[in-house]
Amino acid sequence: MVLVVGGAGFVGSHVANALRAKKVPHAVVDNLENGHASAAGDSRLIRADIRDPDSLRQGFSEPVEAVMIFSGYISVGESYRDPLKYYDNNVRGVIELLRCAIRAGTHKFVFSSSAAVYGEPDAIPIEEDHPKRPTNPYGETKLAVENALRWCAKAHGIRAVSLRYFNAAGADPDGLLGEDHDPEEHLIPLAIDAAFGRRDRLVVFGDDYDTPDGSCIRDYVHVADLADAHIDALRFLEENSGAHEFNLGSGQGFSVKQVLNVVSDVCGRQVPFEVGPRRLGDPARLVASNARAKTALGWVPKFPDLETIVAHAAAWRERNPHGYADKLTR
Ligand code: UFG
Repeated sequence: MVLVVGGAGFVGSHVANALRAKKVPHAVVDNLENGHASAAGDSRLIRADIRDPDSLRQGFSEPVEAVMIFSGYISVGESYRDPLKYYDNNVRGVIELLRCAIRAGTHKFVFSSSAAVYGEPDAIPIEEDHPKRPTNPYGETKLAVENALRWCAKAHGIRAVSLRYFNAAGADPDGLLGEDHDPEEHLIPLAIDAAFGRRDRLVVFGDDYDTPDGSCIRDYVHVADLADAHIDALRFLEENSGAHEFNLGSGQGFSVKQVLNVVSDVCGRQVPFEVGPRRLGDPARLVASNARAKTALGWVPKFPDLETIVAHAAAWRERNPHGYADKLTR
């Protein structure tokens, strides 16, 4: 069985969906603090918190072949304001989980890491061996876990893959799952809501960067493609020992203003926006080299173009303007 920890969140729920489609036995573990019970679909849902080893043990009542870890807090801004919250959940919580899993005999781990481990890049596209200089507590916590996994691979013989997501975006192409953060801070869902008048105008965080139009460049990757990469990672761990890291990005960069144009085109409505000050800690450009994931994992992104990513996100948002229904009853 595969344990999908944080499987009721954005990326985790799409991975659980991919496991269901492939009929891989699994269970979702989530504390539902930020996840949504309905995002877990028909998967078995175990309510537990990684910071509470007693609750976690429920997940290991039967043999667990692999643990996938999606249970991190994700807001860079919040991590500056409350670093200990991030260290407590994203590092201590994962250590509790690893301890519990290793004791129970689990040997395979897939960890949700982030482009935030790199900080301000020296060059793009960013390759995996680029120096790691996180510029915020969030990125530090991701790097700390990657390093812990590497040491545990040596000490305990575990196998681990850390997947460094660039900008996860889009939604399930079948329309069953989507992005529902509270508060929402990500560019594409904010821009879609602004286009449809569900939010005030979008604020572009700075247009005085050293980029062609002055706004920041990011690499948006479809969440369904991220999900596939996790399935590929499980297969990779069958054959490979040690700890490994892979970038997951499309390999293409789009500026904030380019994204707003694509959202306007796809939605058929202008995105109202104004230019505001820079956001603390935003690198000017983050674009992945995805060559290693393609070669070693055999990862083949199915939805590499930004129009499709935005169209899937907009379709889900149209059908679920308030996000998941269970949020209203919490
Ligand atoms: N942006 C705006 N206005 C907004 C929201 C975002 O201009 O209202 C800009 C940001 O400045 C950035 C781009 O849109 O240039 C994308 O911003 P997101 O907040 O959607 O995503 P980030 O690039 O900040 O964050 C992503 C992941 C993080 C990860 C980070 C790596 O969501 O988990 O990349 O730096 F840490």
